[in-house]
Amino acid sequence: MSYSSKTPAIVGVLALCRIGFERECSSELERWFGERGADGYVKFEKLGGQVIWFGQAKQFPKTSELIFARQVVKLISKTPVYFDNKDRITPILSALEGQSYSAIYFDNTDTNDGNSMADLFHRLQKPLLSAAGKANILNREASQRAHLVFIDGTAAWLGISEPGETLKWPMGIPRLKMPQDAPSRSTLKLAEAFAYFMDKEEQTEWLREGLTAVDLGACPGGWTYQLVKHGLQVIAIDNGAMNEKIMETGQVEHIKADGFVYRPPRPVHWLVCDMVEKPARVAQLMADWLADGDAQRAMFNLKLPMKTRLDEVEYCREIIEERLKQAGKKIERLQFRQLYHDREEVTVYLIVK
Ligand SMILES: C[S@@+](CC[C@H](N)C(=O)[O-])C[C@H]1O[C@@H](n2cnc3c(N)ncnc32)[C@H](O)[C@@H]1O
Repeated sequence: MSYSSKTPAIVGVLALCRIGFERECSSELERWFGERGADGYVKFEKLGGQVIWFGQAKQFPKTSELIFARQVVKLISKTPVYFDNKDRITPILSALEGQSYSAIYFDNTDTNDGNSMADLFHRLQKPLLSAAGKANILNREASQRAHLVFIDGTAAWLGISEPGETLKWPMGIPRLKMPQDAPSRSTLKLAEAFAYFMDKEEQTEWLREGLTAVDLGACPGGWTYQLVKHGLQVIAIDNGAMNEKIMETGQVEHIKADGFVYRPPRPVHWLVCDMVEKPARVAQLMADWLADGDAQRAMFNLKLPMKTRLDEVEYCREIIEERLKQAGKKIERLQFRQLYHDREEVTVYLIVK
C-alpha cells in the first residue's frame, strides 16, 4: 500500500478550553474565521470543555492566536472515530491510514469524563504506537502530527497539527510544580505567564538580577516570589501582610499603599498587577503607567465578569491602545491569554517601545 504525505482535507477545527468558557471560545473562533471570510458554524456543549468549528477555510488559527483556546487542532473528519472496549486500535488505525504522522498525541477535555481517560491512555499508547509504526503511519520525517481527542472511552476526534500551531504542552496545560516555599498558589499564574509569553532568550534578558519591578496587590507574595526568584528587586504594594520569608530575602520593599495611587520614585523595568478590581480600571491603570514611562513592560490579570467576558477583554484592549496612542507610545506587544492557572480571568502581556 502506498502512503501519501499530502495533507488531508480539513473540515474544521476543534478547540479545547477551560470548562465554562465554551461560549467565549466559540465566539472567538467565529470571529477569527469570519474576519477571513470563511463560512462555517460552531458546535459546543455547555461545560463540555471543547468547541468545534465546521466549515471551509484556507487558513486555520494557531492556538496562540486565540485567547480562550488551550489547544486547537484541525479536524479531518466530521465524525469522531468510534471504537469499543475490545478493540480500539483497529478503528483508530483505519482512520489514520493513508497518511503519515511524526507523532500521535492523546488529548482529552478538562472535564471529569475527559480526565478519567488517564488509565486508558496509559494502556493504549504503546500498542497503538507500535501498530502505527508497523503500518508505516508513524514517520519521523512527516511534518504533521495526529491528535486523538478522546470524548470518552468509546470515541475520539481525529485532528492534525503542524509544529508551531499548537502549544508545546499536551492539551496546552503546563505541568508546573508548586514551589514548597511560595507564599500562595497564585505564584503558578505568573510562572505560567513567563513560560507562555516569553521564550528562554527573553527570560534571560528580562528576568534577572539588576532589574526592578513593582507588584500591585502583592500580598501575600506569590507573584513577588517569582520575581525575587529571578533576582529582581521588587516594590510590593498592598495594605495586607506580606509573607515573612520573602521579606527576609532583602529583595522586597513592602509599601502599604493604594495600588491605584502609588507611583515609583524612578521608572522600573516591570509592572505586575493581580488586584481584584474592575478589568477596565486595571487596564486603564496599566496603560497610564506605561504611557507615563513609569514601566516598560507589564504583566497583569483582568478578572472577568460572569457575562460578556469576551467583550470586556476587547474593551480593555481598546482602552490600552487608545491611551498609548494618545501618549505617542508604540505598542510592541499586547497579548491576552486565559492561562491554565487562570480561572475567571485572563493574563495580559504589554510592552511599549
Ligand atoms: C488576588 S490577591 C493577590 C495575590 C498575589 N498576587 C499573590 O500571588 O500572592 C489580590 C490582592 O490585591 C490587594 N488589593 C486589592 N485592591 C488593592 C488596592 N487598591 N491597592 C493595593 N492592593 C490592593 C488585596 O489586598 C489582595 O492582597
